[in-house]
Amino acid sequence: MPLPPNAPWWKTGVIYQIYPRSFKDTTGNGVGDLRGVIEKLDYLGHTLGVDALWLSPFYPSPMADFGYDVSDYTGVHPLFGDLATFDALVAKAHERGLKVIIDVVPNHTSEAHPWFVESRASRDNPRRDWYVWRYPAPDGGPPNNWLSVFGGPAWEWDETTGQYYLHSFLKEQPDLNWRNPEVRRAMFEVFRFWLERDVDGFRIDVAHFLMKDPLFRDNPPNPRPGEYHKDMGAYDTQLHLYDKGHEDVHGVFRDLRRLLDDYSRERERFAVGEIHLYDWDAWARYYGGNLDELHMPFNFALLRPNWEARAVRAVVDGLETALPEGAWPNYVLGNHDETRIAGRYGRAQSRVAAVLLLTLRGTPTLYYGDELGLEEVDVPPDKRQDPWGLRVPGLGRDGCRTPMPWDASHAAGFTTGEPWLPLNDDYETVNVDAELKDPRSMLTLYRRLLTLRKNTRALHAGDYQPLDDVPPSVFAYLRQADGETVMIALNFAAEPARVPFPGQGRLLLSSHLDRDDEPLREHVSLRPHEAVILAR
Ligand code: GLC
Repeated sequence: MPLPPNAPWWKTGVIYQIYPRSFKDTTGNGVGDLRGVIEKLDYLGHTLGVDALWLSPFYPSPMADFGYDVSDYTGVHPLFGDLATFDALVAKAHERGLKVIIDVVPNHTSEAHPWFVESRASRDNPRRDWYVWRYPAPDGGPPNNWLSVFGGPAWEWDETTGQYYLHSFLKEQPDLNWRNPEVRRAMFEVFRFWLERDVDGFRIDVAHFLMKDPLFRDNPPNPRPGEYHKDMGAYDTQLHLYDKGHEDVHGVFRDLRRLLDDYSRERERFAVGEIHLYDWDAWARYYGGNLDELHMPFNFALLRPNWEARAVRAVVDGLETALPEGAWPNYVLGNHDETRIAGRYGRAQSRVAAVLLLTLRGTPTLYYGDELGLEEVDVPPDKRQDPWGLRVPGLGRDGCRTPMPWDASHAAGFTTGEPWLPLNDDYETVNVDAELKDPRSMLTLYRRLLTLRKNTRALHAGDYQPLDDVPPSVFAYLRQADGETVMIALNFAAEPARVPFPGQGRLLLSSHLDRDDEPLREHVSLRPHEAVILAR
């Protein structure tokens, strides 16, 4: 069933992720800021044509994990601005019809958060139980075998109080104890604070981590390592049965959904969860049995398969089958934790990836810079900053977090100072200004795709139907709504392909941007690495 014409914004729109440190600096300190985002709202809403912005954390933080270690959930780090600037950003975004989604990090705080400072002060501090404290195992070592995602044990010994505390990520990011009702109340106050400031929704950081096994059982060894979408190092030696994803987490999201619904009278307020689960059924449960939990769990499944027609189709078909009745799909190909699309699939295929992402059924989330075809930047060792990469060589995320190149001037127009991470080497040609002038650029492709998607109901609201009668290097599907049919054909190979196209029609868009309005009859020829959108 296609979406009805009055479907909410988060189903019909396209989300764009901004990593504020790297978007646009207006103070000259080399780090992007909220005023920079305000300056670029016209680029986002008008020039590019996305519908919602997701801002990675901008809160006060010691920056051990670049803002994912929050020391005050209701403030703005002076590097990024202040609350008045944030309010201005929301108001100006709304004036332009853009929604604003903020990143909330409820699983852990910074060790510098006053809650943790109190909690670690003494064993009988009233905030002690706000975090996860345990006595050593009988041998004096950590309470169990749980591992930190970022390497090493998930437990840190605290000399002063003679207990270990849990940190699923860095030791500077202690996990909150979500089984304590006061923690739950405090974090719901945080959600309320931002809803009152008029945000349109939340991206929930590592949402499935909130509830752990109440018995703190050891994780069993992993009989089938290598199933993640990337190498996870030693973390992958265990089956993570007990250190995250406990049943009880669903109660938290039912409560959150009720809160969001209470604030949804004028427009729907929304929550998307960061949930890396590869079992479709476990993943789909985060929508809630009655669609009463998260509006969407992020779907990262496209990051996993080999970049081949059959494998990619299998993911899409798998998702379509796994979706609970009435749940809305979504797709992600890049974010601040993953290798850039162009780095992963190569330049030629990253254009095919753009067409895929913006023509599938479901809400796409774009990552800043991917619309320029920005490559993964090879950050030299002395400039590397990501704590994960510094702890586990090879897993660094700096290369996908480099500054947005705006033009060919000093530091690509990102800053008047020294950028905090190096720019892409090719910023003199790969930048917004240059690509806007080039009718065949990646940016032009994204702009045209976004316009076409917005203006074509079949593309933003239609059904999905895969096509079987195609060559093995091609993934092709129909999108249909109210009698309108659009066909998409993606060639994943470096060889040409010929795809049947019953009847007559015309080409709406080629990823090469040079075949507009070509008439079609009986078949369509695809060049190497070409993706096309066709109208019957
Ligand atoms: C999420 C974020 C990542 C962060 C981690 C810990 O995975 O996307 O950037 O390091 O959580 O908060």
